[in-house]
Amino acid sequence: MNILLTGGTGYIGSHTAIELTNAGHHVLLFDNLSNSAEKVVERLSQIAGKNLTFVYGDVREAEKIRKILQQYQIDAVIHFAGLKAVADSVKAPVEYYANNVQGTINLLEAMQLADIKTLVFSSSATVYGEPDYLPIDESHPTSAVNPYGRSKLHIEEMLKDVASSDSEWRIACLRYFNPVGAHQSGLIGESPNDTPNNLMPFLARVATGAYPELKVFGNDYPTSDGTGVRDYIHVMDLAEGHVAALEYLKEHRGWHAINLGTGRGYSVLELVHAFEAASGQNIPVKFISRRQGDVAICYADSSKAAAELNWRARRDLADMCMSAWLFQKKTDSES
Ligand code: NAD
Ligand code: UD1
Repeated sequence: MNILLTGGTGYIGSHTAIELTNAGHHVLLFDNLSNSAEKVVERLSQIAGKNLTFVYGDVREAEKIRKILQQYQIDAVIHFAGLKAVADSVKAPVEYYANNVQGTINLLEAMQLADIKTLVFSSSATVYGEPDYLPIDESHPTSAVNPYGRSKLHIEEMLKDVASSDSEWRIACLRYFNPVGAHQSGLIGESPNDTPNNLMPFLARVATGAYPELKVFGNDYPTSDGTGVRDYIHVMDLAEGHVAALEYLKEHRGWHAINLGTGRGYSVLELVHAFEAASGQNIPVKFISRRQGDVAICYADSSKAAAELNWRARRDLADMCMSAWLFQKKTDSES
């Protein structure tokens, strides 16, 4: 299939581009480079052993997207493009809704005009809000606690309406848990343009000495060591999940929400220790107060993805840490 990846040079989009190419698909990367760099395209071409096509642009440019969909004879779209920093979304909600919600509306209009009705959307475990029970399955009630989360929820609900309006649509909302790690080549990985907000990229920079210590947000949670627990999932497993979702949509119309997680949670300190073992570096930590909006424990019931997509996360925590460390070292040696 010919697949358009909005946000295709970003962290998850770039890894998914490799897995789709390996599965025999043709990908077109579309991105405004607000949180990624064009050099990712060369890296991807190096890994794939063939040139991948990149088009610079913004999902808010509806006419441009419509032209691309036709010019490249796109069969399906994976919509990664969006802003994802929770704290920024609280400060600049309009920017978040414009990018995430308005961007998706434009994309849907363009897809309707071009009669392309297969869409995989990057959703998030954030749509579950504060968990009522664990592990979290897809029937768990949804809610939002910040504008970023609300933008994901609005989009999911919009997509549900779109699928109910026309039975030709095939839409998968993949609810990612905590993607970490990098491609085994170390050529691509998570490389935010600003200071990382998320744990793993920050941890990797402490290991290189770029930051003196990791600030652990709270050690008074009701968990084994008092630190927050999350379902970390290797980005290459996540990438494979997208390939499986596209296969699934070939046979299934309508709207589908599917968790992509491992089903197992690790605490912040467990991740720190795994990273120390993988990198051979000491990670100084400092406990500070909880981060506003953080939940204590979050991990997936991933049985729906296993049953419906025939997909399971295969890579372990050591693999996640080793690949993230390899990428960080390569990035630093080049700068
Ligand atoms: P990322 O920032 O690395 O990738 C997003 C890409 O989209 C970037 O390359 C950015 O330049 C691009 N982009 C942003 N706005 C755009 C626009 N208006 N037009 C065109 N391109 C635009 O983030 P990621 O981690 O790869 O996340 C991809 C998607 O997955 C996002 O929608 C994010 O909300 C979602 N998600 C991510 C995580 C995570 O932990 N990384 C978890 C759950 C959901
Ligand atoms: C965060 C977002 C979530 C979003 C996801 C992916 C918040 C509140 N949640 O998830 O909405 O979908 O990123 O973009 O921002 N931690 C530290 N020190 C750090 C960084 C993190 O102790 O410097 C802890 C956190 O408290 C948490 C764990 O590490 O317990 C994971 O944090 P993070 O990587 O930011 O992911 P989430 O908070 O789960």
